[in-house]
Amino acid sequence: MRISESKIEEIRNSANIVDIVSEYVQLRKRGRNYIGLCPFHSEKTPSFTVSDEKQIYHCFGCHNGGNVFKFLMEYKKISFIEAVQELAEQLGIELNYDESVREGQSEQEILFDINTEVAKYFSNNLLNDEEGQIARDYFQKRNIKVQTMRAFGLGYALNGWENLVSFLKQKNIDLEKALQLGLIGRNKDGRVYDKLAGRIIFPIFSPNGRVVAFAGRKLREDDTGGKYINSPESIIYVKGRILYGLSFAKDEIRKLDKAIIVEGYMDLISLYQAGIKNVVAVSGTALTDDQAQLLSRYTKNVVLLFDADTAGISASMRSIEILLRKDFDVKIATLPSGEDPDSFVNKYGKDEFEEVIKRSENFLEYQTAYYEKQGMFNDPTKAAEAIRELVKPIAIIDDELKRNLLIKTIAKKFNLREKLLEKELEKALEQEKKTARTQTQRIYKEEIKSAETLIAPEIKKVPPQVYNTEKEIIRLMFENDETIFELISEQIDPETLELEIHRKIFSKLQQYYSEEKNLNPADLISLFDDDTQSYLREITIEQYTISQSWLENHPSVSAENNLYRYATDLIIKYKQLIIDIKISANLKAIENADSEEIALKLMRENLDLERAKREIKSLLLK
Ligand code: CTP
Ligand code: MN
Repeated sequence: MRISESKIEEIRNSANIVDIVSEYVQLRKRGRNYIGLCPFHSEKTPSFTVSDEKQIYHCFGCHNGGNVFKFLMEYKKISFIEAVQELAEQLGIELNYDESVREGQSEQEILFDINTEVAKYFSNNLLNDEEGQIARDYFQKRNIKVQTMRAFGLGYALNGWENLVSFLKQKNIDLEKALQLGLIGRNKDGRVYDKLAGRIIFPIFSPNGRVVAFAGRKLREDDTGGKYINSPESIIYVKGRILYGLSFAKDEIRKLDKAIIVEGYMDLISLYQAGIKNVVAVSGTALTDDQAQLLSRYTKNVVLLFDADTAGISASMRSIEILLRKDFDVKIATLPSGEDPDSFVNKYGKDEFEEVIKRSENFLEYQTAYYEKQGMFNDPTKAAEAIRELVKPIAIIDDELKRNLLIKTIAKKFNLREKLLEKELEKALEQEKKTARTQTQRIYKEEIKSAETLIAPEIKKVPPQVYNTEKEIIRLMFENDETIFELISEQIDPETLELEIHRKIFSKLQQYYSEEKNLNPADLISLFDDDTQSYLREITIEQYTISQSWLENHPSVSAENNLYRYATDLIIKYKQLIIDIKISANLKAIENADSEEIALKLMRENLDLERAKREIKSLLLK
C-alpha cells in the first residue's frame, strides 16, 4: 500500500507542527520559536525547539529533529506510513491508497504487506481449513469464541514442511523477505521450510494495528520446539518496543485512564473476551523503558498483574522501577497461586477479576509484604537490608509529598520506626541524585556534539568571520523568501564558498529551486543526508535570523524590508571578505616573491582588488 506524494504534502501542509508536538511536549514561546524539554534525551533545561515558521523541530542537546512526520515516527516509534496515517486521521483527511504505485514501496511497506497476506492465510486455515479442526478444538477447549479469534486475527499454521512456502510462492512473495521476517527457515542444503508448522498463531500488531510479527504456540505433543516460537526482530519488529494488544486496548486505556499489564497472549485475549479491555501484555519478559514510554501516551496509571511465580515476582520488581522513573502510578495485583489471568477469568468470571484489580496494592505494600513473607523483618540485619531495598524505589519518585506519605504508610502498616525510614530515604535520595547525574552526564557525553562539530575539521581551516558569513548566507536561503533566495543565488558563486558543506548545500538548493520553485524550509532540509540535515536545522532554527548587532546598527531600517537590506549587506560583506583574503594572500606572496617582476604583478593585482572592493557596495546598493 502506498500513499501518493500529493496526499502526503496535503497532510503536511494541514498539520501545524506546534500543535502536534504540543500534544506530547509542553512548549512555551521564546522569541520566534517554541521550546520545551526534549522527549528524546533527559535534560533539565529545555533545548528542544520547534519552529512555527519553518515547521521543523530540533533539539540543540541531542540533535534529533525533522518535520512533523519525523516527530511522530520518533516519538511513537512508528513507521513513516503510520505517521502519515495517524496525522490524516487526526486532521480528517481521507486517504486514497494508490495501489498501482508499487515500485516506490519502502522496504518496511513490503514487509508489512507480506505479514498481512500471511496473517490472512493463517486465519483462513484456522477458520475454514479441514486440518484447522485441531486448532478449533483447542481454542474451544480454552473457551475462545470464533468472534474473538477473528478480532485478534488468530490463526493456524498447517503441519508440514512446505505449506506456507507453497503459499508464498503462489503469491509471488519474495522468499528472502519471508526469511528475513522469520516466517520460514533455510536448512543446510538450502531448502526452505515452514517455521511455525502445526502451531496456533498469534499475530503481533503495532500500536496502529499493523502486523509486525507472529508468535506460534505449540499444539501437538510431538512438537519438540519451545512452547512459543516468536518472530525474530526485523526492521518492522523491535521486541522491546511492542506491547502485545495495545492496538486493541488503547482507546479503553485512555477512557479508563488505567492499564493492566499481564504476561501472556492468552491472558490478554481471555480478559478482552470477558469485557476487560484496558490490557496489554509484555509477552513473558520484564517491561522495557521503551514499552513504558509507549504506554505513557495513554495513561500514567498501571496495575501489574504478573504470575505469582518467582519469575513473575522478579519481573514485577524490575518493572516497578522502570515505571516509577517514568512517573507512573504503580499498583500490583495478585492472583491465587497457580492461576494466571486467563485461567482465573475463565474460572471465576469478570466480576471476581475486577475484585482482584480493586484489591491491588501500591507497589510499596507489595514489596514490603514480599519481604515480610520471606521473614526478613524478623532478623535485624536482614530487616535493615529490606528497608534499604524498600526505600530505593521511593527515592525515584519526584513528588516529595508523595514520598512522605509512602513512608508514613509503610511505617504504620509494618510497625517500623518512621525516623529510621526517613534516614534511609535521605541516603537513597543522595544516591539517586548521583545516579541521575552520571546518567545525564553519560547521555551528554554520548549525544552532545554540536552540529557544528560535525563539520569542525572544515571550520577550523577558515577564519571565523568567513565561516559566520557563509553560515548567514546559507541561513537566509531557508527563509522561504523568493526575492532573497534569488538575490543570493544571482550574487554568489557557490564555488567561492570556503566550506565544502556550504558549497554542497548551495548548489543543491539552486538546482532544486530551479526545478521545483519550492522554498519550504522543511522540504529543503529533507534534501540532504542526516548529518547535513542536523547541521541545517541547527543553523536555520536559531532564534534570530538577523543578528542582533546588525539590527542595533541599523535602527532606521523598517521591519518589512529589513531582511532584504540585511541580505544585501551580508552579500557585500561576504564579497569584500573574499577580496580581503585574496589581498592578504597576495601580500604574503609579495614578501616571499622570487623576482621583482612577480612582486610587481601581485601589487598591481592588489590595486585592482582594492578598487573592486570599493565598487561592490555601489553596485549592489543601486
Ligand atoms: N513466552 C515466550 N516464549 C516461551 C514462553 C513464554 O515468548 N517459550 C511468552 C509468551 O508471550 C507468553 C508469555 O511469555 O504468552 C507467558 O508465558 P506462559 O505463562 O508460559 O504462557 P501463557 O501465556 O500462559 O500461555 P498458555 O496459557 O497457552 O500456556
Ligand atoms: Mn496461561
